[in-house]
Amino acid sequence: MRPLFIAGNWKMNPATAKEAVALAEAVKNGVGPAADVRVAVCPPALFLDQVDAALANSPIGLGAQNMHWKTEGAYTGEISGAMLNDAGCTHVILGHSERRHGMGETDAQVNAKLHAALAVGLIPIVCIGETLQEREAAQTEDVVAGQLTGSLAGISAEQMVGIVLAYEPVWAIGTGLTATPAQAQGVHEFIRDWLTKLFGEATAARIVVQYGGSVKPDNAAELLACPDIDGALVGGASLKEADFLGIIRAAQVVAAKGQV
Ligand code: PGA
Repeated sequence: MRPLFIAGNWKMNPATAKEAVALAEAVKNGVGPAADVRVAVCPPALFLDQVDAALANSPIGLGAQNMHWKTEGAYTGEISGAMLNDAGCTHVILGHSERRHGMGETDAQVNAKLHAALAVGLIPIVCIGETLQEREAAQTEDVVAGQLTGSLAGISAEQMVGIVLAYEPVWAIGTGLTATPAQAQGVHEFIRDWLTKLFGEATAARIVVQYGGSVKPDNAAELLACPDIDGALVGGASLKEADFLGIIRAAQVVAAKGQV
């Protein structure tokens, strides 16, 4: 079945490489060699190399928070997939709402990045999710379906199995407001149905769909126990080792109960 996958999105934190390495080491020591739940951390690009070294000999994946779709050239300030590979990355977050809404990133750009990430063997974590205004206007399913259609254009069933999705309602990110397990599961079920229509039941059953938005140790177990929620993309709580490890422990308990 689908393994639970907990990823920490550190965003533009912490301020120094020293703090980033210390956090990575704390997560590595807390997780230990056990691989019953997949774990990854996504530090700022500047710290990837050093965090990679800190994570040596651990099962923890290393993710970037963004990349460009071109392989090289005159793209000031951008980072290519090949560079992320060279820095030791295994994963890359694409289309986070802070990039979609804060930087105007479009589905077409997310799609170009997705193809580029797959071309260099990175595991993409593609983020989707509605704003509060869209939820209140009962547009959640239309918005999510539109983002899936645009972001996943040209992807085969075979490729899809290697892509992680993250449903992150924008109104729950960094706000302390979490979708209730029922709200989250409702959208996850919609996403699974959409994937089934596009890629078939066998493929859809294998795709890991994380939930993100104010996931904390005290709400993780309930969310992760939902049948179509296969992990969490964690922002704020991933910066505190005790909280991030608490979420991983909750996932381990859910996994041990065989609820995935
Ligand atoms: P949050 O962020 O956990 O701080 O709400 C989640 C995310 O942006 O991925």
